[in-house]
Amino acid sequence: MPTPLDEQQITVSAASLRAMRDEFQRFLMEYRFGLQEIETKISILREEFHETHDYNPIEHVTSRVKSPDSLVEKVQRKGVDPDFDSIRERITDIAGIRVTCSFVSDAYRLLDLLSAQDDVRVREVEDYIASPKPNGYKSLHAIVEVPVFLSTGRVDVPVEVQLRTIAMDFWASLEHKIYYKYEGDVPVDLLADLKDAADTAAELDTRMEGLHREIRGGGPGPGGPAILV
Ligand code: GTP
Ligand code: MG
Repeated sequence: MPTPLDEQQITVSAASLRAMRDEFQRFLMEYRFGLQEIETKISILREEFHETHDYNPIEHVTSRVKSPDSLVEKVQRKGVDPDFDSIRERITDIAGIRVTCSFVSDAYRLLDLLSAQDDVRVREVEDYIASPKPNGYKSLHAIVEVPVFLSTGRVDVPVEVQLRTIAMDFWASLEHKIYYKYEGDVPVDLLADLKDAADTAAELDTRMEGLHREIRGGGPGPGGPAILV
């Protein structure tokens, strides 16, 4: 019987191992730069909102480039050919940024402002706020492409942007912990509780946004009429 591929012994010279490592690091570097471009765009919007409109639509921002281990795991799980061109094409969340917003309308507004920028191309939007996942997961996801200028020329780098409220973020991080604790096999009563908690979180978002509008004097969004509409 043939040995499965991941158990086969492959002999590689030190030089070619180093070359592979360098190529992999260079591949990931492009994503790091793409992420920096999007982070800058988000932080410019954040500062501008704060200085010009005395309003902060962003609570916090986190970002990461996928670790080599988790990239290899995803390549295997999705059955992607293990070459850089295929990975570039099929795995679009190697660079990821999560923007936690104050209110639901801020999430949409930030994505609109990002999408309207000349050098940003939106490849895909998945609106899990309008259409939550069956477990209750809510967030606004987009894959955007941003150009990065290297000494070798321009590369357009995909970045996954996740926008959500604090309540959605709170829910997602707990759900993630529970999912891992039960290795994906979460008891049904806990699943029902989680779904219920997601509904409560959504209700809180609606109430908080309503309150905020009242305080700011209505207008087209949480920031009142002056904000970029
Ligand atoms: P992945 O292989 O998980 O990346 O799935 P996908 O590429 O088909 O994309 P999807 O839109 O389903 O999810 C992208 C990312 O959103 C995930 O990596 C998580 O960060 C987040 N996410 C999606 N669904 C859930 C969920 O049910 N719970 C939590 N906590 N996070 C989720
Ligand atoms: Mg993904």
